[in-house]
This record gives sequence, structure tokens and C-alpha cells, in this order.
Amino acid sequence: MASTTDIFKPELFKGKVLLCSGGGSGICRSMTEAVVRHGGKAVIISRSLDKLQKAAKEMSEATGGEVIAVQADVRKPADVENAVAKTVEKFGKIDYLINGAAGNFLAPFQKLSYNAFRTVIEIDLMGTWNLTKAASEYIKASKGSIINVSMTLHYTGSPYQQHAGAAKAGIDALTKHWAVELGPFGVRVNGIAPGPIENTVGLSRLATSNANYSGIPLGRAGTVTDIAHSTVFLFSEAASYISGHMLVVDGAHWLTHHTPGYPEIVLNPPSKL
Ligand code: HXC
Repeated sequence: MASTTDIFKPELFKGKVLLCSGGGSGICRSMTEAVVRHGGKAVIISRSLDKLQKAAKEMSEATGGEVIAVQADVRKPADVENAVAKTVEKFGKIDYLINGAAGNFLAPFQKLSYNAFRTVIEIDLMGTWNLTKAASEYIKASKGSIINVSMTLHYTGSPYQQHAGAAKAGIDALTKHWAVELGPFGVRVNGIAPGPIENTVGLSRLATSNANYSGIPLGRAGTVTDIAHSTVFLFSEAASYISGHMLVVDGAHWLTHHTPGYPEIVLNPPSKL
């Protein structure tokens, strides 16, 4: 697959500063690397400092750009305030925000404890709100842009996913509310709803190892590069009149959920949960 720099101008984000939660791995790492590859600077945050520092170093080496790691649990207001302060201290501003930190697992309703449900809501939904709250004045000052990472499983009530689905539905709502409320300040707020993306922790937790992707209309699972391309587009001037939109990047997969004739991706069965 073509890299983003084969498609978009290499210095597209020169001088721009990104703050990304969950940027140490998977989809969000790829989103971060794409911004840095196009001249931006980035701060990535998550709970695991070792993993973050390794990812920051690797991304810096791969791109020649600056990527800084700051430990933060998005559930804790003091942590996200500190991450925002460190970003501004280091780079002077924040132009772009990606809310990507998420926690997920498959669990039938009867196996989902009170604490399990609350934990996922706190990481995904509250974490998105907390970090945006902390960064919003800086994003407004730079007339910046926000991308919230959502999913598609709540569109059709996928089994064993009510905790993540409820959180992501809340994130979809926040995307619209913020687009309306921050739009007058020149801030665009959008989301990306990835489908099954290969080689991610999320997919390995949700799908069986021999999952069948032939039912995806475009005939393949997604890649982190697919999400990187969408990120570059949404942050770029090409999307300057797009706000409040959730961009589904799934090869038309969710449209086939429960459609006769389309094989379902086989989730890990309840006996293994
Ligand atoms: C049922 C579970 C469980 C499971 C944890 N819990 N795993 N319940 N089935 N498989 C319960 C625990 O028993 C506990 O409840 C509560 O959840 C909190 O668990 P902790 O381990 O104490 O919490 P914490 O250490 O904060 O970890 C949070 C986590 C963990 C979400 C449980 O998995 C995590 O940190 N994940 C981050 C990485 C991740 O999940 N990435 C994938 C994101 S993919 P009790 O009652 O026992 O105290 C994604 C998109 C998916 O979000 C879309 C794909 C298409």
C-alpha cells in the first residue's frame, strides 16, 4: 500500500503539534507517525511509559521528527492536565488532538461486572472527554482539529461489546457536540471508525485467530496505513469544511452485518471468554 507521503504533500504538517492518547501502539501509533512523517511534532501518552518511550524513539528514528512520551492515565484529570502542560512546555502549542486510548475485551452481559463496565466507560468515554477538556483552550488558540477514534460495532448491537459500544456511542455524540460548540472558534472535530484492522491488539482480542475476512466487501482486513491515510486527510486543508463527521474506514464491512450471504467475522466464542 502507498505510504501517506506518496499521496499527500511531504511537509503538510510542518510546524504543527499533535497530542495523541494511545499513541504507543496500533492504530494510534500509525496515526501519530503519519503526522510526524509530514513534518509535525508529537506527544504520545498512555499508562505504560516503557512502551511509549520505545515507540517514541522508533518513530523519531523512522521519520527524523520529534516524538515525546508522557505517561498519563486518561481517567485521571491531573494526568491529562500534566500531559497538556508538558506538550505546551515542550512545543509551545497544540494544533491537533487524537483521542485514541481505549480498553476492550469480549464479555457476555452476565460476565461483565459493575467495575468492568465502568472501567471501559472511564477509559474510552471519560478519557476522551478529560483530555479534550484539558487541551481545548490550546486547540482553540491554534484553530486546530480533533479526531476521536470510535468503532462500528455499536451500529448493529454486536454481541459481547456493550461496554465498548456504549462508550463509543458517547464518543460519537461528543464529536457532534464539540463540532458545533468549537466550530465558531475555527476548530474542526471529526472521528474515525475503523473496521477490523489487522495486527492490532483490539482485533486479536475480539476475533478468532483464524477469522475469515472474505465477507468484507473490499475483500480484505484493514491496515493501520488505511487509518493513517484518513488521519492525514481529516487534519489537512482538504477537509477544511468537514466537521462533526464520523469517517467509517472499514471496507464497507459494517453494512454487511447480519446480511445473508456475507460470512460474519467469527468472534471468540463465549466458552473462551
Ligand atoms: C470480563 C474483564 C475482562 C474480561 C477485565 N475485566 N478483563 N471482565 N472479561 N476479559 C474486568 C476485571 O475483572 C475488572 O473487574 C475490570 O474489568 C477492570 O479490570 P482491570 O484489569 O483491573 O483494569 P485495568 O488494569 O484498568 O485494565 C483495563 C482493561 C485492560 C480494559 C481491562 O484490558 C486494558 O488496559 N486494555 C488496554 C488495551 C486494550 O484493551 N486495547 C484494545 C483496544 S481496542 P472486577 O469486577 O473483577 O474488578 C478497542 C477497539 C475495538 O477498543 C474495536 C475492534 C473492531
